Amino acid sequence: MVNEEASILRSTLVRLLRDSPSPHSGEELGVRLGISRVAVHKHIKRLKEHGYQVESGPSGYRLNRLDTPSLSTWDFEPDENIRVSEIIDSTMNEAHRLARRHPDEDFTVAAISQTSGRGRGNRHWESPEGGLWVTRWIHPGGSSLRIQLYVMAAAYVLAELLRNRWNLDAMVKWPNDVLVNNRKIAGMLGEAEVAGDRIKSLALGLGMNVNNQSAPGRISLKDLLGHPVDRKPLLRNWISNLDEFLVSSAFPGDGEPLWFTSVMSDIGASVGMETTHGPIVGIIAGVDEFGRIRLETKNGPGRLIEAGDMIKQTRSSYAG
Ligand code: BTN
Repeated sequence: MVNEEASILRSTLVRLLRDSPSPHSGEELGVRLGISRVAVHKHIKRLKEHGYQVESGPSGYRLNRLDTPSLSTWDFEPDENIRVSEIIDSTMNEAHRLARRHPDEDFTVAAISQTSGRGRGNRHWESPEGGLWVTRWIHPGGSSLRIQLYVMAAAYVLAELLRNRWNLDAMVKWPNDVLVNNRKIAGMLGEAEVAGDRIKSLALGLGMNVNNQSAPGRISLKDLLGHPVDRKPLLRNWISNLDEFLVSSAFPGDGEPLWFTSVMSDIGASVGMETTHGPIVGIIAGVDEFGRIRLETKNGPGRLIEAGDMIKQTRSSYAG
């Protein structure tokens, strides 16, 4: 659904140009695509506007660089169901809009930049060009008590990807911040529609600093690797690894989600938690089967925290 007619034509055009280094004439492309030469020219113009280095010479069109720095719908196969928008408010909003038109489909929306990106607690999320701003829309159908675990899984899968692909020391700060060298590189956001006690649909938002300048205290993949990174394989791998993980026997698992604690930062650390019931201090002991953090408190039986911001203990004003 995500690829409309023009998008399908452009995806095919990119594939034709990408698959052969020799030029293709406008006439030949027109015949292969079933459109006129003028229409081919118009589509090529749009590709150029999106950063594709298409050279036009006497013998036709040639794609100069295989690996375009841009991210566009046409880089993906129609059955991947990935739509990339230019500037939009938020991929979360865009996913809700698309889902109204295609209620039963799983799909992904990405944006080059967002004007109203949102993070946890409805905080503003800066989303300039160069980052990966994505929402994956799925229908997991599991128990609504496990929503948090899905969001944690999205962060876990990204951390594993960064570890395996680039050997980075990626960890997840509960519940869903991905850190490298203790600095935030990505955050996840989950928004679910629930029917009874089941998850009807789930929007998993990923915001990741890739080639953009990161805010102070944060880090981007480009800063870490010293060069820009093609976001297409990163996006593809995150989606396919996540889809695979969510149907694997490891997820959600019985009892403590060990997959999560294997990459969780701050286990054993003394922290302060800002919760909706006020601040609490304790030592992080792990996570329970619903994704709640287990906090050992000084004089009590321990607490299960469903949601809250974690702050390493620096203040004495927290109540135990
Ligand atoms: C957080 O760490 O607070 C979560 C940040 C999630 C940001 C992403 S960017 C793509 C998607 N669209 C949004 O508006 N937010 C999420």
